[in-house]
Amino acid sequence: MARTKRELLQNHLGRLIEYELAPHDRLPTERDLAEEFAVSRMTVRQALERLEQERRVYRVQGAGTFVAPPAITKSIELTSFSDDMRSRGLRPGSRLRVAEDIPAGAEIGFALGISPSAPVVHIERVRTADGEPMCLEHTYLAGATVPGLLDEPLDGSLYDVLRERYRITLVRAEQTIRATVLDQGAADLLAVPAFSPALLVERTAFDQRDRPVERAVSTYRGDRYSYQIALVRPTA
Ligand code: GLP
Repeated sequence: MARTKRELLQNHLGRLIEYELAPHDRLPTERDLAEEFAVSRMTVRQALERLEQERRVYRVQGAGTFVAPPAITKSIELTSFSDDMRSRGLRPGSRLRVAEDIPAGAEIGFALGISPSAPVVHIERVRTADGEPMCLEHTYLAGATVPGLLDEPLDGSLYDVLRERYRITLVRAEQTIRATVLDQGAADLLAVPAFSPALLVERTAFDQRDRPVERAVSTYRGDRYSYQIALVRPTA
């Protein structure tokens, strides 16, 4: 089927953005594109506006249209502690302190959508980076979703075990981050003075079927950890 000029223009722009230009490179001018594809300036402008809405390009008044950098950065992806440390060039590790079956209780039961009396696996780990303690982590998983988890090695990445042994991939999470201070016990485990500042991160993570699978309460050393979050203004 014959392609319209407008489609040819759109394909050309798509190819330029995907393969030929790098982020922040300038696209050809509206006038050049209009001439090359024998279409009106209005047609070119509409094509560029559409790409702008899709956040594939951005426009700077008086300067032109530029290739947008990829919108999703690792900071807004759902990552594991191991992923986070590796991306900082550090070797992730874990010191397992507790691995046990306990009743969910009201708060964890509510987060995981199970009865307070249903069993959960509770794992407490000191997470390390290049051997240095970074984070104290309590993780709770509904026992029925991860039968036999306590027999698995829990000194590596939990998310890897969930994926490899249970075919569970965590695809989204609800997370809150707030400031806290470390009590004596947590401070000792993290090798910092008592009452040092820390970040308390609470996460409920959901699997491919949108089941809440994990509730985790992680306390990160405030002197070593920062959260980078990419913010994108919604389109009008
Ligand atoms: C982060 C999250 C936790 C999650 C952990 C998994 O620390 N805050 O909710 O349990 O990553 O990390 P890993 O796969 O390295 O055990």
